Amino acid sequence: MSERALRLGVIVGSTREGRYGRTVADWFADLARQHPELDVDVIDLAESRLPPVHPAQDTPPLREFRDRLAAADVFAVITPEYNHGYPASLKFAIDSAYQEWHTKPVGFVCYGGISGGLRAVEQLRQVFAELHAVTVRDTVSFHGVHECFDETGIPKDNAVPAAAKVLLDQLVW
Ligand SMILES: Cc1cc2nc3c(=O)[nH]c(=O)nc-3n(C[C@H](O)[C@H](O)[C@H](O)COP(=O)(O)O)c2cc1C
Repeated sequence: MSERALRLGVIVGSTREGRYGRTVADWFADLARQHPELDVDVIDLAESRLPPVHPAQDTPPLREFRDRLAAADVFAVITPEYNHGYPASLKFAIDSAYQEWHTKPVGFVCYGGISGGLRAVEQLRQVFAELHAVTVRDTVSFHGVHECFDETGIPKDNAVPAAAKVLLDQLVW
C-alpha cells in the first residue's frame, strides 16, 4: 500500500445463508487491490455481528463497524436485488452510522435475476444522498448472476473488468 492510497471499503450487503454475494465481492475486491491508488477493506455484513435492532447504547461490534467506515475514504457497495429493492441487512447497516458516510463517494456493484440489481441501486442513491454521500454514475451490474462467474470466481464476460475499472477510477477521482 502506498502512503497516498485511498482506503476503499467494500461493503458486502447480502447476509443470506447460501448467498452469492461473497463471490461477487471477492472478485471485485481482488480487482480493486490491483489499483495503485487503493487499499481495500472488505466489510462483510454477515461477519460484522451488528445487533439485531438499533441499540440504545453502542456495542463493541457496532463501534468496530463504524470505525471501519470512518477509516474508509470511498465505498463500493455490493448489493443484490430482493423484491425490487435492496436487502434489509444493508439498510440496517447504513442506518447504523451517520457521519462516517459524510462527503464520501459511493459506487455500486449490483446483481440479481433479470434486473441485475439496478432497481436496488436506484433506491440506494436516494438513501446515500440523505447521508451527504456522493454516488458515482457508473455501476457494474450482473444479470442472472448465478450464471455470470466461472468456477474460479471470475466473470465469464470479458467486458466486465473494463466496467469495473471505470467504477474504480470514478471513485478515486
Ligand atoms: C427474497 C429474494 C427476492 C428476490 N427478488 C429479486 C428481484 O426482485 N429482482 C431480481 O432480479 N432478482 C431477485 N432475486 C434474485 C437475487 O437477486 C439473486 O438470487 C441473488 O443471488 C441474491 O443475492 P445473494 O445470493 O447474495 O443473497 C431475489 C432473491 C431473493 C432471495
